[in-house]
Amino acid sequence: MTQGPGSLEGKVALITGASSGIGAAAARVFAREGARVVLVARREDRLAELSAELRAGGAQASHCAGDVQISADVERAVSHAVQTYGRLDVAFNNAGAGGDVAPLHLLEDAAYDLVMDTNVRGVWNCLRHEIRAMTAHGGSIVNTSSVAGLVAPSVPAPYIAAKHAVIGLTKAAAVECAADGVRVNAIAPGLTRSEMVEDWFARVPGQQAKSMASAPQNRMAEPEEVAEAAAWLCSERASFVTGATLPVDGGRTTW
Ligand SMILES: NC(=O)c1ccc[n+]([C@@H]2O[C@H](COP(=O)([O-])OP(=O)(O)OC[C@H]3O[C@@H](n4cnc5c(N)ncnc54)[C@H](OP(=O)(O)O)[C@@H]3O)[C@@H](O)[C@H]2O)c1
Repeated sequence: MTQGPGSLEGKVALITGASSGIGAAAARVFAREGARVVLVARREDRLAELSAELRAGGAQASHCAGDVQISADVERAVSHAVQTYGRLDVAFNNAGAGGDVAPLHLLEDAAYDLVMDTNVRGVWNCLRHEIRAMTAHGGSIVNTSSVAGLVAPSVPAPYIAAKHAVIGLTKAAAVECAADGVRVNAIAPGLTRSEMVEDWFARVPGQQAKSMASAPQNRMAEPEEVAEAAAWLCSERASFVTGATLPVDGGRTTW
């Protein structure tokens, strides 16, 4: 059987939070599907290592270190994509932070600020610069929300508020940009193996077993399983999907 072109063949894709977890897995999946990828996060050494790995595998990949909380950093990353590859077609706005674990009345304001500034202002910054780069020719954007954007699991309240806000921004942008041929969707991952989750389990005894048992599949996702859903939504195979939030959660929000 001949293998057809990848679902993102020739597309230029920007991926935030690409230095680990779901974002790093997405870099590999998007590159495998034929995209030219630009990797964004704060840890430049990780990005350099991953983009070199992708290039060694035959992909076109580069990186631009930056903090999604800072509009100028995101603007620089989008410009890097356009200057390096000529355009921006696809964006996976995936950078996020879980923040301190405590009941909301015991959290400091700084904990709220970090989570909102990373997860909500970060997506806000990304959407604004990406949409400006896409309106002339269309494109597809996927934002990473969470099951915590759909229900209120046992995670900190600012994170729940932030991930609900990501879904609100996704819907607003989808409606505003539909006429320009830009689709905007969100994924809502459930428990997924990553640095964020390993850190959470290390800090809260018993949380791992409790979290695994909260979904019918009774396991954690591998980051690649979430990345595959993002790749599909980013691709033209999802051409009539916009404003949607796709749970990728082993059934966590079903029962
Ligand atoms: N793992 C799960 O169970 C789960 C479930 C639902 C949703 N999510 C969401 O999935 C996304 C990816 O998380 P993950 O699970 O893959 O965890 P992770 O391995 O900790 O990845 C988080 C990524 O975000 C980047 N990041 C954090 N703050 C940033 C900032 N200010 N500017 C730029 N990049 C920043 C980190 O890179 P640097 O530190 O190098 O900047 C890292 O690449 C997040 O939005 C998270 O909320 C995860």
